[in-house]
Parts: sequence; structure tokens; C-alpha cells
Amino acid sequence: MLATVDAITDTARLLSSLRDVWDEEAVDELDHALQSAARATDDGADDELVLAAALHDLARSPLFDASAGHRHDEVARQWLTPRFGERVGWLAGQHVAAKRYLAATDPAYRATLSPTSVASLQAQGGASIDPTLLEHPWWPDALRLRRFDDAAKDPLARAATIEDVLDVAERVVRHRAPR
Ligand SMILES: [Fe+2]
Repeated sequence: MLATVDAITDTARLLSSLRDVWDEEAVDELDHALQSAARATDDGADDELVLAAALHDLARSPLFDASAGHRHDEVARQWLTPRFGERVGWLAGQHVAAKRYLAATDPAYRATLSPTSVASLQAQGGASIDPTLLEHPWWPDALRLRRFDDAAKDPLARAATIEDVLDVAERVVRHRAPR
């Protein structure tokens, strides 16, 4: 029970800390997180995927050292896994690899990227395919998450609320508890 409370409290603190954090996109990191969650929900994603979508950029929070931004996918995986399980951590941790894959395989995808995302793609090593990921059972959901991420930068788009995400987080923790 204590672990549940801690994970939810940590998540609430983390989400709040993303307010007014800007990464040269049209929305702040909180809105980006809440729009990612909404796009995932709209697509019928399960709770773990919705939660991973909401928290994939958690390393942008000022609660982390600024150097966390260099491997923000890995920071997300390490933060999420002990709190919400392997799948939530893995899905959030692949959002850069998924972008590199989509840029390499989907000609239309690149045109959808924001200018900031195009610039960061180069910094992340450019378009590429990691063959070790393709057979992974969670890879299709990692690609879904990436598309939620890219669609979550519209200042006029509907977003989830922090409470919505905390409800999802609570369900994920409860679902794990009996294991
Ligand atoms: Fe993102």
C-alpha cells in the first residue's frame, strides 16, 4: 500500500513540476504530457500505455539534473520501471528509438515532425532501425506511443487532466499488486 501511495505522490509531484517547462514546442511539458495521455486514450490504449505516454518526457522536469536531458528516454525507463513495472518503463524508454525507426521507414512521418523534433532527431543519431527491437512483443505499442507523442504539441488540442493520469497510475499499481 505504501508503495502505491509513494508512486502516485511521486507522479503527482512530477507532473506538476512540468508546468511552464518549455522545450521550444508550442505547448509546455505539462500540456505535452497531458495531451499525450489524451491521444493514447482516444486510440483505445490500455492503462500502461496511457501512463507511459503521459510520462515519457518526465526527464524534462527540473526535479532531474539538467544532464538527464541527454538520455531522457533512459531516465524515463529507470524512473518508471520500479514504480509501474517493466512494460511502462520499456515503452517510455523506446520513444527515441521509435522516432528513429519511423523516420527511417515511413516517408510521411518526417513531414509530421515539429522543427524541434527534426533537430533533436539529428542529435539522437538520425533515422535508423534497431533490428533487436522489431520482434519485441511491445514494439508495436512503442510505435503507437511515438505517434501520440508527436500529436501532442497542439496548443488547441484537448488534454487529459493531472487527475485523469493519476487515476490511470493508481489502476496500474493496483493491477500489479497481486503479482
Ligand atoms: Fe515527447
